[in-house]
Amino acid sequence: MATSFELNGISVTLDVDPEMPLLWAIREKAGLVGTKYGCGIAQCGACTVHVDGVASRSCSIPVSAVAGSKVTTIEGLSNTISQAVQSSWQKLNVVQCGYCQSGQIMSAVALLTDVPKPTDADIDAAMSGNICRCATYHRIREAIHDAAKSI
Ligand code: FES
Ligand code: FES
Repeated sequence: MATSFELNGISVTLDVDPEMPLLWAIREKAGLVGTKYGCGIAQCGACTVHVDGVASRSCSIPVSAVAGSKVTTIEGLSNTISQAVQSSWQKLNVVQCGYCQSGQIMSAVALLTDVPKPTDADIDAAMSGNICRCATYHRIREAIHDAAKSI
């Protein structure tokens, strides 16, 4: 059965098993591979996308659950907050291997959308579900504060 939703501002209808995780529908069917697979059990954050503006673990959501919703992936980030985050990420050289970073950025954008001037505690709470094997956590926190100054 096909599932229809908005993906990065474009209406899509994907003819896939309704139980297919959203992550695989995005990567394998829609061809957007910026969203990564890490654990598959909602524990690492590598697969984070926005569903109706909320940071969500796409590995653990059946595609049928987003029918009629607005899904944004790393490829679809384009607003002022997103640009500020990406610019601060570059400025502070946050990325090491990069594997976790699309998920980190998706969570950071969702945080700054809800809390424009987050405290360290806000950042820790919002980002705690995003694991980085390269331990870029300190630079991520600095980059979020830096982005907040320019929003
Ligand atoms: S791959 Fe989805 S949270 Fe790890
Ligand atoms: S930058 Fe390597 S896992 Fe995060």
